[in-house]
Amino acid sequence: MSYYITTPIFYVNAQPHLGHAYTTVVADTISRFKRLLGEEVRFQTGTDEHGDKIVQAATDAEVSVKEYVDNISSMFRAAWPPLAIAPDHFIRTTDPEHMATVQAILQKVYDKGDIYFADYTGLYCKGCEQFLTEKDLVDGKCPDHLTEPDKITEQNYFFKMSKYQDWLIDHINNNPEFITPERYRNEVLSFLKEPLEDLCISRPTSRLTWGIPLPFDERFVTYVWFDALINYLTGIDYPNGPDFARNWAAAEHVIAKDILKPHAIYWPTMLRALDLAPYQKLHVHGYWNINDTKMSKSLGNVVRPTELAEAYGADTVRYFLLREMSFGLDSGFSIESLIARRNSDLANDLGNLFSRSLTMVKNFSNSQVPAPGPAGDQDRELAEACLTMLADYDKQMTGFAFSRGLEAVWKVISLANKYIVTNAPWELAKDPAQAERLHTVLFHLLETLRLITLTLHPIMPETAAKMTEALGVTAAPNLRTDGKWGLSIPGTEINAGAPLFPRLDKQPKNDAPQPKKAETKKQQKNKVEAKNEAEDGLITYDTFQKLDLRVAKIVAAEKVPKSDRLLKLSVLAPEERIIVAGIAEHFQPEEVIGRLVIIVANLKPVKLMGILSHGMVMAAKEGDKLVLSTVSDGVQPGSKVS
Ligand code: MSP
Repeated sequence: MSYYITTPIFYVNAQPHLGHAYTTVVADTISRFKRLLGEEVRFQTGTDEHGDKIVQAATDAEVSVKEYVDNISSMFRAAWPPLAIAPDHFIRTTDPEHMATVQAILQKVYDKGDIYFADYTGLYCKGCEQFLTEKDLVDGKCPDHLTEPDKITEQNYFFKMSKYQDWLIDHINNNPEFITPERYRNEVLSFLKEPLEDLCISRPTSRLTWGIPLPFDERFVTYVWFDALINYLTGIDYPNGPDFARNWAAAEHVIAKDILKPHAIYWPTMLRALDLAPYQKLHVHGYWNINDTKMSKSLGNVVRPTELAEAYGADTVRYFLLREMSFGLDSGFSIESLIARRNSDLANDLGNLFSRSLTMVKNFSNSQVPAPGPAGDQDRELAEACLTMLADYDKQMTGFAFSRGLEAVWKVISLANKYIVTNAPWELAKDPAQAERLHTVLFHLLETLRLITLTLHPIMPETAAKMTEALGVTAAPNLRTDGKWGLSIPGTEINAGAPLFPRLDKQPKNDAPQPKKAETKKQQKNKVEAKNEAEDGLITYDTFQKLDLRVAKIVAAEKVPKSDRLLKLSVLAPEERIIVAGIAEHFQPEEVIGRLVIIVANLKPVKLMGILSHGMVMAAKEGDKLVLSTVSDGVQPGSKVS
């Protein structure tokens, strides 16, 4: 049997943000942790690609739905490697194998008599793609989208979810860890106190064609959840594939609380109707908020995980996410707190312990693991603390309490830093009579670092790999066999490398949830090029390419009060923006309205006479004469000039 962990499959109506990344980091961390325990693991993520919302997003982007889903799905796929996330399988609901199996499942449940056709009138929220009940509404509105749902009546197919309600209640009661943390289990049980309604699983093709046709009625496609949840089976080749046989019995899902009901109620009852055992566990986490508001595409307050990883490195982001959020509760995100954690926990505590210890081994023990002498009280205290750390870490990680698991590790890091100060190896090194004591202290530090490294593999894989290499220990670690005191072998070569976490001194200038980037190689190259350009007056193609020149249509113009020179222009490029242009001495406002001009669209906004100007209109000057730039033929406003 192989452990099987999944993330939700993410909607492709939005690009990946930090909320998606958190769930996926958690699943990746757990899969690495299980592998550290010597278990076989399968880790699956993917994208959910059917439904109204996706058609809407494609229409907005003016591309075909297929092109649209391919594009965003590949963005999700590409978002994970920069965060050192390594799924074994990436599933898409538009995969033909998935679609065929969903149809086979629908047929099976239909043949069993658990799907029926009926009239349905309900309150439909377009944002949720769901019928909502009166109870779901707050002040008559959907609490997630703050819009009033539409009353819709149509014929549809229904899954007899209510038939399995009693079974589900019993199952949750008999398996206390089925839904964790407990608050979410209680939430589901309390919801199940009311009679369950059956689940509408179809949409008429007159309203939605981007879905999977029902095998028993082509006038309908299956509705989002019946398609999406089944990915957890189709991804392991249900019903006949070897992965299904190997993985299903050990399946665990990770989600946030937004999709608790579908996962805790719809999904187990669907599995029951299919005569399959339910999944083992559902792990439910809270939201990442920005200024107390859930990070989400619709609110526009998202942080892009790839940008964060580029700026701070995968491991810093992973550590921050896992350390900062108590699994199950909401947490606030800010760049300041990420930088603070990086500087204090990573650079100061861990980085310093590592580099101080290795430098001392280099200087006082010829870059080799020394042979220790007899251990004293302090040494024993450190060794015992390490073993307590391993046990605690194991327990907390198993229970998805990542933050507590890391606390246990950092307790030892801080103890080891104190151990250095109290034992002052640099003093011992001055006295040849203290050589054995010096070696004992260094050995204890190296052992402590080896065990700390072991715990960091699932959390910060790149850092753990660097530490492993520096310490000259096994590259295929196992928490059970390596997690013992005293396994460092005297004589092993130690290779102190560069600092693990160079300090980040730059603090962000404002509260915006955008990452402040460290200088990348490309930026350094650009700097050198810019310097050369300043010297010879020529620019490179790269520099030219940075200019975003657009055709813009002037739709309104007026004089700026108290200025002879400035006109305030409203232009379309293609979205409307204000540009304050120094052309009032040459043009009357009404002269320029309706004209196509070329603008520099990516200039930093500046305030001119109290008006924020978003760009610059290009013009040619000859003596006192000024002519506006334009293009020789009519093109759409917003067209790029290159
Ligand atoms: N497609 C469905 C899931 C189908 S699974 C069979 C869906 N997609 S989603 O793109 O909206 O993703 C929701 C999930 O994204 C959450 O459950 C969570 O894993 C993650 N998150 C989205 N925003 C988040 C936060 N602000 N904070 C934490 N997690 C967030 O629902």
